[in-house]
Amino acid sequence: MKGSESFRNKQVMVTGGAGFIGSNLARRLVSLGARVTLVDSLIPLYGGNLFNIEDISDRLVLNITDVRDPYAMAYLVREKDYLFNLAGQTSHLDSMTDPKADLDINAAAQLSILEACRQHNPAIKIVFASTRQLYGKPEYLPVDEVHPIRPVDVNGINKLAGEWYHLLYNNVHGIRACALRLTNTYGPGMRVKDARQTFLGVWLRNAIEGKPILVYGDGSQLRDFNYVDDVVEALLLVAADSNADGRVYNLGSEEIVNLKQLAQMLVELRPGARFELVPFPPERKAIDIGDYYGNYNKIRIELGWQPKFALRQGLVTCLAYYSDHLHKYLDAK
Ligand SMILES: NC(=O)c1ccc[n+]([C@@H]2O[C@H](COP(=O)([O-])OP(=O)(O)OC[C@H]3O[C@@H](n4cnc5c(N)ncnc54)[C@H](O)[C@@H]3O)[C@@H](O)[C@H]2O)c1
Repeated sequence: MKGSESFRNKQVMVTGGAGFIGSNLARRLVSLGARVTLVDSLIPLYGGNLFNIEDISDRLVLNITDVRDPYAMAYLVREKDYLFNLAGQTSHLDSMTDPKADLDINAAAQLSILEACRQHNPAIKIVFASTRQLYGKPEYLPVDEVHPIRPVDVNGINKLAGEWYHLLYNNVHGIRACALRLTNTYGPGMRVKDARQTFLGVWLRNAIEGKPILVYGDGSQLRDFNYVDDVVEALLLVAADSNADGRVYNLGSEEIVNLKQLAQMLVELRPGARFELVPFPPERKAIDIGDYYGNYNKIRIELGWQPKFALRQGLVTCLAYYSDHLHKYLDAK
């Protein structure tokens, strides 16, 4: 990868590092020779899981801390060259029933992390994991970065604030920061216990357990998916390239599928798997965004990123991984 030498012997902190994307990033950083510190609260409702980092635990430092603790953050950001800021509350439904927790983690804590950097390490480079959720229901497809922002849930609003705090600190305080607006990301290490992180997690679980995959509505909703290794490459790329400072980039994929096609793909790949179309639960319908797929031309043209993994190939890898390790994700503390 372009810029992969940028991380050798560098001090790199990953918040949310025991989670799905954070742990895959940590594995790659360790392989690039970085000195990695993971920060994760391991709150059971979220995606942190020590099994995600079991194979690399002797090559990094894990700090079990909550990013809402400004004193811990003020200490931890010191002497770091890079911060990948991935800790987050990811459930859209939970953000509607416990909006304050979402606000505290996705917005207020982000501000205190940035303040910690301003006061103790203004030379750090920060990458924030933002989300396509902040666009809300698309007005046009594919959605590019200038599409109107109209979040449909509390999570989208707080992630937007988190993203803009990073841009503000870049623009006003000169602390180099940028953000990636991730779309549905999947791969080994994702939460499969329930749909808190993504519906696809629980679909994989049901496929493996021989339970029906529940597809809401008529399954015609369009989505794009990125395999986690492609997302990790994008995170490293924007961290290493100063042209990304102060900028926001969509990720996305050329492979657009509707949810029924996705369920059908899992049924083809996993003997015994089946799916059912069921009515939308009303609380989900209320915050559903309809069809979405992103335009990722900006990062492709400016920085040369493009996804390499085909959806079918990624699903095969996930099914194999969770066939072997499902219990590690169901019994996780
Ligand atoms: N997975 C996706 O499809 C997707 C899509 C868009 C955006 N994102 C963003 O990417 C980031 C990583 O997501 P993920 O899919 O790896 O989810 P994840 O839940 O697996 O990872 C988030 C991690 O943050 C940790 N965390 C949560 N609250 C914390 C706190 N207060 N203090 C310390 N750690 C805390 C969790 O324990 C978890 O390990 C999140 O910020 C999410 O909003 C993910």
